[in-house]
This record gives sequence, C-alpha cells and structure tokens, in this order.
Amino acid sequence: MYGGGDTESERTAFRKAEKIYKLYYQSNTKKKKQPRAVDLTQVLDFKSIVQLFNANGQVPPGVSLAAAPQFDRPVFCLEKHPGFYFIPQALSVAEQCHWIRESLTSFPQPPNRTNHNAVYGSIHDLFIAAKERKVLVENQNCLKGLLPDNNSLATDLAYRWELSEEPSVTSRESTIKSISASTLLRKLRWSTLGLQFDWSKRSYNVDLPHNKIPDLLSELAKKMAAPSMSLGEEFQPEAAIVNYFGAGDMLGGHLDDMEADWSKPIVSMSLGCKAIFLLGGKSREDEPIAMFLRSGDIVLMAGEVRECFHGIPRIFTDKENAEITSLEQHLSNEEDLCYLEYINRSRININIRQVF
Ligand code: SIN
Repeated sequence: MYGGGDTESERTAFRKAEKIYKLYYQSNTKKKKQPRAVDLTQVLDFKSIVQLFNANGQVPPGVSLAAAPQFDRPVFCLEKHPGFYFIPQALSVAEQCHWIRESLTSFPQPPNRTNHNAVYGSIHDLFIAAKERKVLVENQNCLKGLLPDNNSLATDLAYRWELSEEPSVTSRESTIKSISASTLLRKLRWSTLGLQFDWSKRSYNVDLPHNKIPDLLSELAKKMAAPSMSLGEEFQPEAAIVNYFGAGDMLGGHLDDMEADWSKPIVSMSLGCKAIFLLGGKSREDEPIAMFLRSGDIVLMAGEVRECFHGIPRIFTDKENAEITSLEQHLSNEEDLCYLEYINRSRININIRQVF
C-alpha cells in the first residue's frame, strides 16, 4: 500500500512505528517462511486493562473511563487524544459472526462498489461463486466498447460466472480473460455501503447509485456512537467502508477527512484476526500509540482525534496471536465453514460515517 523509496514520509515517526510492527519474514531460514519476531511490549492492550479495571477499578496512566451510562461495560478514553473511545468486546460472538457473513455476502453486492469495480465492473455473488469454485469469464458476446463508458449494462454484461473444474488465474484461451472467484475474494480490499465514495476525487459522489445503510447496522452504529455524541444528538449513519485484510496487508497512516462535520464520530468495528492500530497526532512526525484491536472491539473517533493520523500496520493470522477461538467455535457448523475458512486468515473492519 506504499510507494517505494526513502522519501521524507518514510522517515517520519509514524512510518518508523509502522516499520516496527509490519510483517517481515526471516530471510535466513530454509523452512516455511517464518514471521520475524516483534516486540509487542509497548502495545496498549485493552483486554488486560479491562481485567485490571474489573479486578480493582483501576486504569493505567493516560487511560480514563468515559461516561457511558448506556453501556453495561467500561468504555475507555485516552487522555492525550480527546474524541477517541475504545469499547472492548462491544459485540457478542454471535454479532461478530453475523457481521462477518454480511461483510462477505451482502456488503460487496452492487450497487455497493468494491475495489474490483474498476477492472471488472459490477460483480454479483462473489462469495457464493468462490464457494462454488466458479470462474469470472470475459463475455465475448457483450456490447462492451459499443456502449458509452458509463453504461452500467455494459459493465454488468462484460463478465459472467462459469463453473470450472479447475479454478485458476490463468486464461483458458489467449483471447478470453478469466479469473477464479477465490482469487477475486482474496483480492477483495474494500466495499462501500450507503453513499458511495469516489476514491479518485477523494469525495462522496451522491449521484452514484446506492442503497441506504442497512437498518440493523445503522441501529448498532447509533447505539455504539452514543458516548461520543453531544447530549440529545443522535448519530446518522450515511456511509460505510468495509476494509478486508489478509496476512501481510496493512493500511498506511491516513486521515479520514472527507466528511463535513468532524464532531461526528467514525464508528469502527473489528472482526476476525487481531490487529495493531496506530494512533498518531496531527503530524506524521508525532509518535503514535500502538494498541491491539480484537474481533468485537469498537473504536470511536470524533472531534480532535479526527485530525490525527492512524492506520493498521499489522494483522496476526497465526493461531497463537489471531485470538479467534470463540469465532472458530461459533462458525463450526457445516454451512459456516466457508466463513471460517476466510476469517481464519483475515480481518474485516467496518467503519461507519455521518457524511453531512
Ligand atoms: C481505518 O482507519 O480506516 C480503518 C481502521 C481499522 O481497520 O481498524
């Protein structure tokens, strides 16, 4: 997710922290690729903070308790970062599984856009196609090229799913392009819900076809956003980005600055493998705080912290560190094994925004 080269941004405090936690493999081993060991002692761990708090009512220096009467569990703030809230294990295991299923089946469905739109147009039923080992094949008979570029019919007709005995990335014939659904699923990086985002212009394009945020997700986000809202105000979810991470993926330091009103929070849900989240300051030169994000944790970013750089330098997909045992147990039914197979080596983040 980065350009190469030792540019100025490569030497900032934020970039240095990313390099500390990023997944590197040991180069001098003949065995299977081994991740290089990383010192995690400086990573803030809200799981142990909750345990400490439940045992003796104490929180470590720099961490405070938010006023959150709506919650039956502690909500934490960081004294150095007004507007930041951490709600450990806000989602039950059943809720986590529900949002994992939705993130893989309904959220990438048109009119929601994904990173695959730019190349393949609208793709329907990607997850089911991967389960059925289908292949996306270029449609030779389509009108692609004869219709105007913005004709959605053209992109919808440009490719079709076909059953394949041998799913592969390679072309079956030199003139017909094809790619397996499982490869496309592995390369799924984002999908957008509600108001659609134009990444090239870095702005919302309200003219793009869209569905509203699903009611259940909207209700959940409103409930979770409450600690960060002014008295009497309710969060209005209008857009969401779903990020999909595989082993070795990272999300570089960035600001979420496209919404009109930064006093409103971004509600950010973690699902699947554990990750490290870096929260920096208003400059990339400010040293970031590293913290673990586990499946079921929710983070709110509102007000001043909306101006702070943040990112994900690492997800842990190994058994010892991923911490997804409860998901594994919950997704052990035959019909859920396809979700388990995905989430075993992946992380999903759903971040929900009020745009106006
Ligand atoms: C983001 O910063 O946009 C996503 C953070 C996350 O994946 O938890």
